[in-house]
Amino acid sequence: MDRITVSATIRDTAHVTAEDYRRLYEESLNDPEEFWAHQKERIHWFTSPQKIKNTSFSGDVSIKWFEDGILNASYNCIDRHLPEKENQIALIWEGDDPADDASVTYGDLLLHVSRMANLLKSIGVKKGDRVTLYMPMILEASYAMLACARIGAIHSVIFGGFSPEAIAGRLDDCQSDFIITANEGVRGGKVVPLKANVDRALDILEESYGKSVKKVVVVYHTETETACDPDRDVNYNAVIGTLEDTCPAEPMNAEDPLFILYTSGSTGKPKGVLHTTGGYMVWASMTHEYVFDYKPGEIYWCTADVGWITGHSYILYGPLANGATSLMFEGVPNYPSSSRFWQVVDKHKVNIFYTAPTAIRALMREGDGPVKATDRSSLRILGSVGEPINPEAWSWYHRVVGEERCPIVDTWWQTETGGILISPLPGATDLKPGSATKPLFGVQPALVDAEGHFLEGATEGNLVMVDSWPGQMRTIYGDHERFKQTYFSTYEGLYFTGDGCRRDEEGYYWITGRVDDVINVSGHRMGTAEVESALVAHEQVSEAAVVGYPHDIKGQGIYAYVTCVEGCTPDEALLKQLIQWVRSEIGPIASPDFIQFTPALPKTRSGKIMRRILRKIAENEYKNLGDTSTLADPAVVDSLIDNRLNR
Ligand code: WT7
Repeated sequence: MDRITVSATIRDTAHVTAEDYRRLYEESLNDPEEFWAHQKERIHWFTSPQKIKNTSFSGDVSIKWFEDGILNASYNCIDRHLPEKENQIALIWEGDDPADDASVTYGDLLLHVSRMANLLKSIGVKKGDRVTLYMPMILEASYAMLACARIGAIHSVIFGGFSPEAIAGRLDDCQSDFIITANEGVRGGKVVPLKANVDRALDILEESYGKSVKKVVVVYHTETETACDPDRDVNYNAVIGTLEDTCPAEPMNAEDPLFILYTSGSTGKPKGVLHTTGGYMVWASMTHEYVFDYKPGEIYWCTADVGWITGHSYILYGPLANGATSLMFEGVPNYPSSSRFWQVVDKHKVNIFYTAPTAIRALMREGDGPVKATDRSSLRILGSVGEPINPEAWSWYHRVVGEERCPIVDTWWQTETGGILISPLPGATDLKPGSATKPLFGVQPALVDAEGHFLEGATEGNLVMVDSWPGQMRTIYGDHERFKQTYFSTYEGLYFTGDGCRRDEEGYYWITGRVDDVINVSGHRMGTAEVESALVAHEQVSEAAVVGYPHDIKGQGIYAYVTCVEGCTPDEALLKQLIQWVRSEIGPIASPDFIQFTPALPKTRSGKIMRRILRKIAENEYKNLGDTSTLADPAVVDSLIDNRLNR
């Protein structure tokens, strides 16, 4: 499809025009010290940093930005906007039920966050402690995150779709003594038993790791009662009114940790991605302002969950650092109907809307009717994140949702990058459907071949970053060796993203998807190894191999090949059991779409599973399997093809 040129209306008022982009991008690479010394001013520092950049991708890998600066993230998200924005709405909450909504001003937010911070102090949370959040999309989730930041505690938010097993593993990994949760969440009219999951997780923590936590704060969001351990559990609703209304913001060093967020890799258990305070805040603020061309007074809505990095950077920290009005949605796109997103847009007069391709594809399938039944005239900018957006979905989003008036920013980034790295800027960049377009300021992408040679011009290769940017992760919590190994050892001295990418003649980047064993299911990132280890933990399973395959709505689906133990005859009942098993080991998002039972897996003579073949069969592309001559037993492949499930 054709390129879409920058609209004059957008350009005339934009923060960054094409001319600005060229000039500033060049400056950011030629003189990073100068560029970031200027950008750091968007944040309030208790002590302004004199040192700007001190980073190395070689040797021990050390990344420091603004290292002698002192600040507080919560202060930046709240206090610094007062008293001017005392009565401006900071957060709009839209409930799962369309009749439920609420909003808090910056003045209110200071009160709620201060009380929550005092509650945390009163139960013994100290600077540097890890506090685990397992919350629905309610205002208290943002109070809790900002309260941690206020007192210098490190939050670790676990997405509400993860299982008790997954919670226990993460509690153990970061040695977290405190949990903040809710009795229940509600999504699409269905209840999520969060507190019951936490209770189960704490049993597992004790049984499997011999550990326990000190306190569990429970927010009562619904009427339902839950089990309560009076020595351990704290009823938020009952005590919050008794706490002091003010709480000073703890002075933090720029490189003090702000949060940990677990994400999946190609091997082993999930990694605790660690982000620190100064660079992250500068990056979240800058990218939010430029990529969404955010202007004071605009209503901004990112549909992500706060359990993911998108929610951290673009519901909370970025928008609030910029004094924005940010909308938080508890529900799902198709409840009570497929018009819901657009009804919410109309109800709150949303100007900037940021969502994931999987949601767009699902809604596109319902046709134009549910969109056209709404007005949407408030919309100015649309955004996409989480996975490659196919040009068809892009065009539908542009034509039907945005009525060709709204530029689409296809934003490429990762949990590890802290914020957006490659994206159009609405007033600067001509759009090409399916391309994340150009790098932001200070971002130096490069494409390399398998040996790490730089590829020039229009080409395709593995996407790396040549130098650091302020929002970059600093380490894997408690495992710096693994951090170096995962990101900096594939190509010496370069940050390896794990993504494949094409670059066209005009220097536009087109992300093609992961080149490692990570899959992306409805924007949820998962290691195939994680699903495999969940499967083999079942007593009837002897071996498992998991691959992704293209899925119309989800982007990728999960295809599992399973070999059972001797004497086990797989049947429908076992199939159901295994699906349930994976859901309870990891969470519903990891449910396999297909489980193919097979007496054997295709292996090389040295015993390595040939995943390439399994991927082809899962994709139903079994006619062109390539070289199979190194297989120990080629007959295995014929039987896999005969019994393939994705036809
Ligand atoms: C992986 C990171 C970015 C926050 C949400 C996901 C894929 C992300 C795009 C995009 C193509 C994308 C990549 C990346 N991805 N955005 N605009 N176009 N692919 O964060 O869970 O850390 O996943 O998501 O494969 O590596 P994440």
